[in-house]
Amino acid sequence: MKVLVTGGAGFIGSNFIFYMRKKHPDWDLLCVDKLTYAGNLETLAPVMDDPHFRFSKTDIVDRKAIFSLFEETKPDVVVNFAAESHVDRSIENPAVFLETNIMGTQVLMDACRQFGIQRYHQVSTDEVYGDLPLDRPDLFFTEKTPLHTSSPYSASKASADLLCNAYHRTYGLPVTISRCSNNYGPYQFPEKLIPLMIANATADKALPVYGEGLNVRDWLYVEDHCAAIDLILEKGKEGQVYNIGGHNEMRNIDIVKLILQALDKPESLITHVADRKGHDQRYAIDPSFIHQELGWLPETKFADGIQSTIRWYLEHEDWWKNIISGDYQNYYERMYGNR
Ligand code: NAD
Ligand code: TYD
Repeated sequence: MKVLVTGGAGFIGSNFIFYMRKKHPDWDLLCVDKLTYAGNLETLAPVMDDPHFRFSKTDIVDRKAIFSLFEETKPDVVVNFAAESHVDRSIENPAVFLETNIMGTQVLMDACRQFGIQRYHQVSTDEVYGDLPLDRPDLFFTEKTPLHTSSPYSASKASADLLCNAYHRTYGLPVTISRCSNNYGPYQFPEKLIPLMIANATADKALPVYGEGLNVRDWLYVEDHCAAIDLILEKGKEGQVYNIGGHNEMRNIDIVKLILQALDKPESLITHVADRKGHDQRYAIDPSFIHQELGWLPETKFADGIQSTIRWYLEHEDWWKNIISGDYQNYYERMYGNR
């Protein structure tokens, strides 16, 4: 089996590559990544010399390059993680989100149509459903919840999902889509909530909590997400959407306090800053469909996963300190300088 993994130098894609190397040691994995600010080739060092692994620095929007890569390698399966993934950046500059997340998806599916494929899997997000009110804990996103996006990021992901459905219905492309809740774990870029707070707390820097920090996210350990995608590739039904989540809702402020406690740092580091524009209140996945259909259940409890994630960041300071580069600093200044 030959699997083309896009965005494999990013957070979830790299974890997926490591997961698949262990789970299917004889499968060939081809990682396609543009290496944007979020892609880090250092992360893939452990598999770089593996004869079953190959890396190509390619932009998924580059039709010519993607088509010639397909012609050369003839993948059986494509799993598309490649995306611009940070909501705050999408608020600053939506254009690149539309290019990569929508046009890139189209290019990949066109290549799949041209060269044939057993499966195209689109890695999507629960953010396509918009948000839920904080005072209705009885409500959850199911696969039937209408798409109702808030940010340019989520709008671009929802657009790609609709395009996937269209390619399935119109051209019969064997597509599956997964919509997962917030992931946490090793190799997450230190602009997202959990790694940013760990990095800042370690350096005794202020922890910028948007608004009151009462927004709720449903957190899943990244390896559980990888296992769900592997299961969907194996047993999922073409044309089907699968929601992935572990019923683990947390308020941002509680996550931040938990990190401070684990690092033995004072809560005085918490700084409430201006809220994100259009900030989604609550995400909460109902994962019963993937459980009933495919038997998937998350394995890592949040209490364990968050401690091992914090430990990982402490033990891999070089990894994230190397990332906090000029570009990141400029971005950081723009984002937090005047808040
Ligand atoms: P990430 O930002 O850490 O990684 C994205 C990767 O895609 C990077 O390696 C980047 O270099 C690459 N990339 C970006 N544009 C590209 C292009 N034009 N061509 C080729 N490669 C390109 O993102 P992540 O958090 O690992 O998310 C991966 C996927 O999972 C995304 O599609 C995201 O929407 C989805 N998702 C993420 C979460 C989460 O909590 N992080 C939850 C649900 C779904
Ligand atoms: P994030 O990790 O960006 O993921 P998403 O917006 O896709 O859910 O943010 C998670 C939550 O944390 C979200 O409610 C915004 C909040 N947040 C902060 O309060 N401060 C920060 O510096 C960041 C990056 C996020």
